[in-house]
Parts: sequence; C-alpha cells; structure tokens
Amino acid sequence: MNLQFNDSSITVAVVGCGGFIGCHLLDAILTRTKWRVFGVDLDFYRIQHRLNDERCEFMVADLADKSVVERIAKYPIVVNLAAICVPSRYMAEAPEVIRSNYDHPAALADACAKSGSWLIHFSTSEIYGRTSADSGLLVEDESELTFGPVMASRWSYATAKLLTERYIAGLQNLKWTVVRPFNFVGPFMDFMPGVDGSGIPRVLANFSSALVRGEPLKLVNGGVAKRSFTSVFDAVDFMFALFEACDVAFSQAFNIGNPDNELTIAELANKMCKIFAEIKGVSVETIPEPEVVSGVEYYGEGYEDSMRRLPSVEKAERLLGFKAKTPIDVVLRESLTWFVNHYGCEIN
Ligand code: UGA
Repeated sequence: MNLQFNDSSITVAVVGCGGFIGCHLLDAILTRTKWRVFGVDLDFYRIQHRLNDERCEFMVADLADKSVVERIAKYPIVVNLAAICVPSRYMAEAPEVIRSNYDHPAALADACAKSGSWLIHFSTSEIYGRTSADSGLLVEDESELTFGPVMASRWSYATAKLLTERYIAGLQNLKWTVVRPFNFVGPFMDFMPGVDGSGIPRVLANFSSALVRGEPLKLVNGGVAKRSFTSVFDAVDFMFALFEACDVAFSQAFNIGNPDNELTIAELANKMCKIFAEIKGVSVETIPEPEVVSGVEYYGEGYEDSMRRLPSVEKAERLLGFKAKTPIDVVLRESLTWFVNHYGCEIN
C-alpha cells in the first residue's frame, strides 16, 4: 500500500469521528493531508466546525447496522474508534459493553477482510488486565494478560476488546493493525457530569469537573493506582507515523503511550489542584482537599482496578520511528485550561 498525504483520491473511513480521539484525528487528516473522510458517529457536537467541509461525508449511524458496516468497508483505510470505554458502565451495562466492543467490531473486521480494506482497530491498554503495583513495562507481544474472576464485571470491556483482537488477528486475508491507547488526555475528553453526560467520566474529566464545581476530587481506593498519561495530540501523530509506515504495521499490535508521564492518581490530583489554582489565580489552599472513596461504593459491585499501566513503546519506535513527546505538566495544563474555558460558564 502506498499512501501519499497529497493524494486527493484517498478516502479514510473514521468510525467514531465525533468522539474524543475522533475529533482530533479528523482535524489532523483535514489539515495535514488532501484525503477525504467518511465519518460515522451518533454524536457530532465536537466536530460542528467540520460538518460542511466538502472533503467530508458524515453518517449518523453505529456499527449495529449491517448496511452501515458494508458501506464503511468500501474505503481503503478504516479506523475504528467506536467503543463504550467509561469504566463506570462496565459493571451495570456489561452485555451492552460486550456487544459494542466485540460483536460490532468483529462484523466490521469481516467486512474489511472481504473488501481488502486496512482496518486500524482501537483496542485498549486495559487488555493487560489486573496488573499489580510492581508490574513493569507492558510489552505488546510478551506480557501476560490477566483478568479477574467472572464476578468482577469490571473486566467485561477488556474481555470483549481482547476477544476482538484475537478475532481480527485470526481472520485470513485481513490487513489489520491494532492499537492500544494508554490514558489519552486532552481537550474534548469525555463529558462533564450533569452538563453533557451522566455517570462518572474517566479520571481527567472527573477531576476537572470537580475542580470547576469547587468539589473535592475523589481518590478511588486512596489514589495509589498508577497511569501513564498521553497527549491526544501525540496519539494523532502516532496515527500519521502509522499511515506513513503502512505495510510495516500490518498484522501488528502497538501500544500508544508515554511512559515518561507516569503518576499515581493521588499525584495527578495534586498536580491538577495546583494547575487549576494557577489558572484561576487563587491560592491552592482554597481548593478542597481530595477525599478517599472505596472503588466498589463509587463505581458499583464488580469494580476492580489495574494498579499500574506502564507502556513499552520500543516497538512503535523501532517499526514506526514514533515517540510521544508531550510532558505531563504541559498535557495537564492544556487539558484543564480547555475544560475551564469550555465548561466554566456552565457553573458560574
Ligand atoms: C479507562 C478505560 O477502561 C480503558 O479502556 C482506557 O484505555 C483508559 O481509561 C484510557 O483512558 O486509556 P482507566 O485508566 O481505569 O481505564 O480509567 P479512569 O476512569 O480514567 O481511571 C484511572 C484511575 O483513576 C483508576 O485507578 C480509577 O479508580 C481512578 N479514579 C478515577 C479516581 O481515583 N477518581 C476518579 O474520580 C476517577
């Protein structure tokens, strides 16, 4: 496959083009290439400014619709970002989570195998499972994948995602690449509860919401779990490295992460309180102290956690020449500034 960024005959299908990652990828494709985009989603509020772009065609649909799946697979590159990926839903809505993360992407993979499209499937860092506090680097083709007992419904999502990876890898004739995001953060992440969504968003959006509302941040089980946070803009750069490398990336799974940005959740809370105080020009003492909550009480029965998610990025460097570069303080300031500007007026 030879993909030139100035080739206006190429159309890429982006499933989930209106989501957090999708909106940034869409902007980058339209800015950095001459490609066209066929975008599918149910929600377009993040990409209002692109709706009349002559290089885009949008469809309000999801992968539950078989005719939509066939249509998407007509395009030479298919990026599938669609997923229910908010942990608060994994317990209460396990069947729906599994359908959306296995049945639908597997059908899309079948269609791409038939049509010859390159399927770039967004999986998750959560497939590494119930990692312990002292687990080391998570390596794509080596690490053990360990999920909890079946009653621990937290793992419904990871189980479905892993099954999809295995399904994709097992399909004859499918050109595929799997990517595993490690805690992407940036503007437009998730939602603000009670404003444009309900339930508990992922940690950055939840902490940002609490700060804007003047409420204490909630540290689940003491905030000792660790995550490595990755700028969504680095993630978009990864996608361009993938498009350029193309054939080298077929039949490979890649972590997309930034191991230099590892923090405990308690450290994240402290940093976010400090940055928020600076943005608002107030003393950090005016910000309420974080509160510890139990994971099961906060998220519901069946919640468990990964204690550490540290990505190996050696494979992406070696095969694609890609390395994430945005430091944690820059990512957090950028995300929080965006959140305050975007939602602050909803509160004041
Ligand atoms: C989630 C998804 O389940 C993954 O599939 C996805 O890859 C990942 O986000 C991601 O963004 O890449 P997780 O990292 O556990 O996984 O999601 P968060 O809800 O952001 O939680 C991160 C940590 O913060 C967990 O230890 C959680 O218990 C804690 N947390 C979350 C808090 O202490 N307080 C909160 O208010 C929210």
